[in-house]
Amino acid sequence: MGEKVRSSRISGFYKLPREERLRIVAEFAGLSEEEVEVLRSGGGLGIETADRMIENVIGMMAYPLGVAVNFRINGRDRLIPMVLEEPSVVAAASNAARMMREGEGIRTSSTEPVMIGQIQILKVENPQEKAEALLSAKEEILELANQQDPILVKFGGGARDLEVRFLDSRVGPMMVVHLLVDCRDAMGANAVNTMCEVLAPKLEKITGGKVLLRIISNLADRRLVRAEALVRKEAVGGEEVVDGIVAASAFAEADPYRAATHNKGILNGVIAVALATAQDHRAIEAGAHAYAARSGRYTALTRWEKTPEGDLLGRLEMPMAVGTVGGATRVHPVAKIALKILGVKSARELAEVMGAVGLAQNLAAIRALATEGIQRGHMRLHARNLVIMAGAEGALVDKAVEELVSSGEIRFDRAVEVVKRLKGAQNSG
Ligand code: MEV
Repeated sequence: MGEKVRSSRISGFYKLPREERLRIVAEFAGLSEEEVEVLRSGGGLGIETADRMIENVIGMMAYPLGVAVNFRINGRDRLIPMVLEEPSVVAAASNAARMMREGEGIRTSSTEPVMIGQIQILKVENPQEKAEALLSAKEEILELANQQDPILVKFGGGARDLEVRFLDSRVGPMMVVHLLVDCRDAMGANAVNTMCEVLAPKLEKITGGKVLLRIISNLADRRLVRAEALVRKEAVGGEEVVDGIVAASAFAEADPYRAATHNKGILNGVIAVALATAQDHRAIEAGAHAYAARSGRYTALTRWEKTPEGDLLGRLEMPMAVGTVGGATRVHPVAKIALKILGVKSARELAEVMGAVGLAQNLAAIRALATEGIQRGHMRLHARNLVIMAGAEGALVDKAVEELVSSGEIRFDRAVEVVKRLKGAQNSG
């Protein structure tokens, strides 16, 4: 039996009651009643589990889980679970994904999931000679590393290669050995750190030096994700908007002050999915910024160009160290459900989806900035929340939003007045 054909193009998703949204997502992803109940009950992580996850636990803190719609990635429709505290982000991602699906959608690719472990060695005499000795013992060293993680090896991963670097530092020269490890579906920090620690005595013996640090590098430049989308000029609002987006992109490429904010917009999307799937989001952010500065000057992680036809072509490239096995991903009940909603089967697939969300989020942000600015959309959403809080329901919501926005005073007291008046008119009419 073939897979059910499902569309993530859901117009007016944001206007539906929460229960209805949940029902649509449950049907799309084939969630069980139990999983639906975990989402409905707001968090799903019991205090006992929380107490085993970190130290000194005294309670828990919930964040909203939203779902971005309209994504088409490599020809497949996806719903995107996003966890964050900032309004507008989920709406913006859905909006950009709608523009992008009018072309061919977003295409993604990725490298093998290779992480780097670093072993710092001090006091090495004749470093060139010792580096050669290390490299000639490579097979033996990799074998020793792989003995630490037979499961990773069984699933096709493991230590792959060794590189030697020389650094000049404030405390003198040092040798740094890089252990390259294919982490398959794990984020890999545990596997890599264990391997590096185990290798230390052997490396000391070969080099005659003193090993100090043994730790993964978060500059995961061997574990890259790429996302690309061709967006028709009509979909973004015409050629002038295309030019504006290209100029916004060029600004971020040329200026670190702008690039930091531009990349923050990308990370709005990436990290929201990372949180929903319980990834080590600090590792992703550290990797993203370090990669953005790899040329020696901090720059943008995306680039938008105009095609000869006047359309928009966007590309993103960034490290994406994520896992679908191990860590909190398999412990947190909501993270497990988020992976099911995403429908990803491997860490690479997850990484590629996250790259696609980053590219869409970036398009939404710079399109808004290059046109009306971001405050207008933001205030509309705020107005919507206010009128609902003030008791508006059904068709009255849109009417009340229009009135509140055009009044220019988007405040709760004004929302109460507007809703009261519209309800009165409705009842008397
Ligand atoms: C706000 O969270 C993100 C933006 O500042 C990103 C950008 O400036 O590109 C809108």
